[in-house]
Order: sequence, then structure tokens, then C-alpha cells
Amino acid sequence: MRFPTAVFMAAFVAVAVTQETTTKGTTEAPPTTSTTAATTTSSTAPPTTQAPTTQAPTTHAPTTSAPTTHAPTTHGPTTTPAPPKPREATLGNYTLQNGAEVCAVVLARIVVTQNATSYPFVNGSLVRKGSSCDDSQVTLWIESADDYKLQIVIGHDASNFFVKSLSVQASSLVADRDNLTQFSTPMKQYYKCQSASEVSLGEENVKLIFSELKYQAFQREKSAAFVGSQLECVSDYHSDVVIIAIGSALAILVVVILVAYLIARRKNRQRGYQSV
Ligand SMILES: *[C@@H]1O[C@H](CO)[C@@H](O)[C@H](O)[C@H]1NC(C)=O
Ligand SMILES: *[C@@H]1O[C@H](CO)[C@@H](O)[C@H](O)[C@H]1NC(C)=O
Ligand SMILES: *[C@@H]1O[C@H](CO)[C@@H](O)[C@H](O)[C@H]1NC(C)=O
Ligand SMILES: *[C@@H]1O[C@H](CO)[C@@H](O)[C@H](O)[C@H]1NC(C)=O
Repeated sequence: MRFPTAVFMAAFVAVAVTQETTTKGTTEAPPTTSTTAATTTSSTAPPTTQAPTTQAPTTHAPTTSAPTTHAPTTHGPTTTPAPPKPREATLGNYTLQNGAEVCAVVLARIVVTQNATSYPFVNGSLVRKGSSCDDSQVTLWIESADDYKLQIVIGHDASNFFVKSLSVQASSLVADRDNLTQFSTPMKQYYKCQSASEVSLGEENVKLIFSELKYQAFQREKSAAFVGSQLECVSDYHSDVVIIAIGSALAILVVVILVAYLIARRKNRQRGYQSV
């Protein structure tokens, strides 16, 4: 009789565990450098430990000079897979100051795409010349290591600030869009979106993709820290809510089954007394 509850508890735990692993899996994105480091150390380590063990049996040690020549051959393949690494946009910190005051902070990974081609912003930096801020508008001019250029204009109305125009140039691609109210956030708060947000620029299939975005403008603070409360984007909020909803639905189900089982057991006992 206890069997169904035990099975159900096990299923619940299994679901909870898989959920945890899937959420962890998505955050563990960049371990590419650690794997190459691991293979180089492991490939060079065995020959050095093999040398002393073969040195023990008499003059057989000089003939086993093969492991020493084996080291350079394994060193060759470890260096070859390094170059064809797909280039990834780096997390940029675009902080604009006006004298002693910080007028905007934008942290983001930025990728421009056109059809299947993508142009990631690697080692992007803010160019002072071309960037400006005043009470009505902030202009950020960003350049990447590959000489891709992006201009972000942030404006505001009485209550919110938002990205109002974007223009980009990457390789031969040129695109822009005005008239946006993208990433709108109440003044004196900051916007956060871990998920990728796509902004379409014009008809040429050009898209700007922002991820791990955190930004604030017109804060007029002495430091580049984010101030006020956080506005989380809808996609981040939804993924949190879905996980919580599934978890609580399963918990409720477990309780319902447990109660049903206890009631059934009680009825069975009562029936047992009646028949005696
Ligand atoms: C992108 O795709 C569109 C529609 O398929 C096409 O018209 C356009 O020429 C393509 N642009 C580039 C740069 O490949
Ligand atoms: C980006 O910066 C890192 C660290 O400063 C450097 O190792 C790398 O070569 C740079 N990449 C490019 C494409 O400039
Ligand atoms: C976009 O700009 C035009 C003028 O350039 C304006 O008439 C229109 O209302 C704007 N659209 C939005 C959605 O703000
Ligand atoms: C971004 O850069 C500014 C200085 O330009 C620095 O004060 C701030 O701590 C940086 N923020 C992050 C999150 O790295």
C-alpha cells in the first residue's frame, strides 16, 4: 500500500533534479578554455610519470625513449583544435561619464545578425568621441575589435527611459532604426534581461541581439553602480514563474495523493471492523 506514494515521491525528486540540471546547464555556457587546459595538462602528465617506472628494470629504460617522443606528437593535436573556435560576443561594459557624473551604464553581449550570418561584438569599447550625454539624450558609440560599430541613443519621457534609436555597421552591413521605445524602464530604476532580446532593424533581415543586458541611464550618480530597483524583462520573469509553477503543482499533487491514500486506508480499516 505504501508503494504508490514511494514511487510518486521518487518521480517528484527526479523531476526536481532534472529541472535543476537544465537550469544549471544553460548558465554553464563558457567552459571552452577549461577543457583545452585540461587536455594539455593530462597529455603531458602521463609521459613524465611513465619515465621513472620504466627506468627501474635495468637498461630497458633507454629503449623506452618512445614516451618522450610521444609527448610532442600529442602536443600537436592539442594546438590544432584551438583556432576554429566559434567567436562569441564578449560581455561589454559601456559606462559613460559626464565629468564626475555617470550618465549611463550598459552591460551586454551584443550580436548583429543578417540571415544566417552573425557579427559578434568582441572586446567592444565605448568611444568617447561620438558619445555624449545631456538631460534629454544619451548617445553611446561602441566599437568592437573587428571594427564593427554600434550607436545606441537613449531618450526619456516624463516617467521612463528607453532605447530610442540603434544604428549598426558591421563589415558591409549597414542598418538603423529610429523611433523605438525598446527596454523601457522607469526613471531611477534599472533594466535587467539575462535572456536574449532581439531588435529588428529595417527590412534587410538585420537583427541586433542583446543578452545578459543590464542598463540604466540618466541616473546622475558618482559611481557606475546600478541604483534603485530592478525591472526584470518578461522572458526572464516567465522562466522563473514556469519553474515555480511546475514545482508547486507537483508538490500539491503529492499531497493530494497522500491524503487520498490515508482516507482509503481509513475506510478499509472501518470496513474491516464492520465485517468482524
Ligand atoms: C537575406 O535574406 C533576404 C530574404 O531571404 C534576402 O532578400 C537578402 O538578400 C538576404 N541578405 C543577405 C545579405 O544575404
Ligand atoms: C579580446 O581581449 C582579450 C583579453 O584582453 C584578448 O586575449 C583577445 O585576443 C581579444 N580579442 C580580439 C579579437 O581582439
Ligand atoms: C515615428 O516617427 C514619426 C516621425 O518621424 C512619427 O510620425 C511617428 O509617430 C513615430 N512613430 C512612433 C511609433 O513613435
Ligand atoms: C564598468 O566600468 C566602470 C568604469 O568604467 C566600473 O566602475 C564598473 O565597476 C564596471 N562595471 C562592471 C559590472 O564591471
